[in-house]
Amino acid sequence: MEKIVIRGGVPLSGSVTISAAKNAVLPIVAATILCDEPVVLENCPQISDITFCLKILSSMGADIRMLSKNKVRFDTRSLRIPKVPYEMATAFRASSYFLGALLGRFHEAHVAMPGGCDLGDRPIDQHLKAFTALGAENTLDGGEVSLYADKLIGSLVYFDMNSVGATINAILAAVKADGYTVLENCAKEPHVVDVANFLNSMGAEIMGAGTDTIKIKGVKYLKGVEYSVIPDQIEAGTYMVAAAMTGGDIIVKNVIPKHLESIIVALRKIGVTVEEFDDSVRVYTTGDLRNTKIRTMAHPGFPTDMQPQISTLLTLAKGTSIVTEEIFDSRFAYAKELRRMGANINVNGKAVCIEGVDKLSGAPVNASDLRAGAALVIAGLAAEGTTEIGNIHFIERGYENIVEKFSGLGANIKLVHTIDYSDNEIKKNA
Ligand code: EPU
Repeated sequence: MEKIVIRGGVPLSGSVTISAAKNAVLPIVAATILCDEPVVLENCPQISDITFCLKILSSMGADIRMLSKNKVRFDTRSLRIPKVPYEMATAFRASSYFLGALLGRFHEAHVAMPGGCDLGDRPIDQHLKAFTALGAENTLDGGEVSLYADKLIGSLVYFDMNSVGATINAILAAVKADGYTVLENCAKEPHVVDVANFLNSMGAEIMGAGTDTIKIKGVKYLKGVEYSVIPDQIEAGTYMVAAAMTGGDIIVKNVIPKHLESIIVALRKIGVTVEEFDDSVRVYTTGDLRNTKIRTMAHPGFPTDMQPQISTLLTLAKGTSIVTEEIFDSRFAYAKELRRMGANINVNGKAVCIEGVDKLSGAPVNASDLRAGAALVIAGLAAEGTTEIGNIHFIERGYENIVEKFSGLGANIKLVHTIDYSDNEIKKNA
């Protein structure tokens, strides 16, 4: 068993370099299935969700080669089986992207209902709506979704809500369909745009990504490319919040400041100074943190994936803050762990109410999902004393070298291997 152990109270300083965006790389890796030649991704982050994706591709017959630590070559021409092994699909949410990619290539796909962080109900009805509009039939049997189409024909799809996953999956299924597809009420997140850019660089004809309406003219052939994925706005935001919460002064490198706009606006409201440069930002504080109200929204609004981190920052702000979650039903599991550290934070329906306190104190806590885990790391960095964070496999899903990166900023943080004395482990080893 591994834990992250932090002795808090050190203001962060220096610089950190941001990795490629998890939520762009995941669908891009799935999209390599559509390519008729080998593809090289220059900056694949070493995180467990990506490892899962690579294993899925290999299990279906693709040839995957690590050219260096982060550079990966994908040759999916040898892929023959349009089916993701059940346990692999249920391990994470992005397995759903194999539905669109396999359907687009084989006109057939078999993928179990996806898993992923437990943030409340996460249906895939909008994904299925798009596949149906393109001419695919779907069945659900034994927890596995199967899609079949004689051929895929371009169509009009109107999404009932902004969904990142459904928008990207519809693009993957439509990119080689016959004729034109028009997607209305699309998600506009930077990773949606990056997936379209990746496909277009191979010869796809996708127009309007980043707006409400995306138009796709189906093509027959996608050529090989070398591609570099956009930086991760949420990883960047996480380090920015950590700097603010520890009273530090850091440069966050390899970012697209435009993608950080809503996070920068929120930090400035809280009294944090953010200076923007071409591809980096400097973050520091000069006085007390101020209370505020924040509401998560689809892009370009404040991202739900930063909600646990910003709420954690507000536990040390003067006064009462309210953070409202509008995207997911249940994304506050971290609040009870923050209370163990002395935070005054209470969940009330779809909002948390936070009364700022003077300090947090270290405690043993557990991550309940990816961003909740990141929030606890930030809290531990700012707290007095020692914080031990368990269930760090959640954090490893989306943060590359988090311990090394925070160490590089001067934090007293380490990965510790512990022995599990729980009954189950003892029985297992008996
Ligand atoms: N929704 C439906 N039906 C659907 C699809 C979505 O009702 O068919 C609902 C969801 O239940 C949710 C809302 O629509 O309430 C938005 O969900 P969306 O489809 O946009 O989310 P997702 O594709 O499942 C991705 C990211 C999440 C991120 C959300 C929102 C990946 C692999 N996951 O999830 O990332 O929170 O978009 O931006 O890209 C994370 O990185 O920590 C994370 C959870």
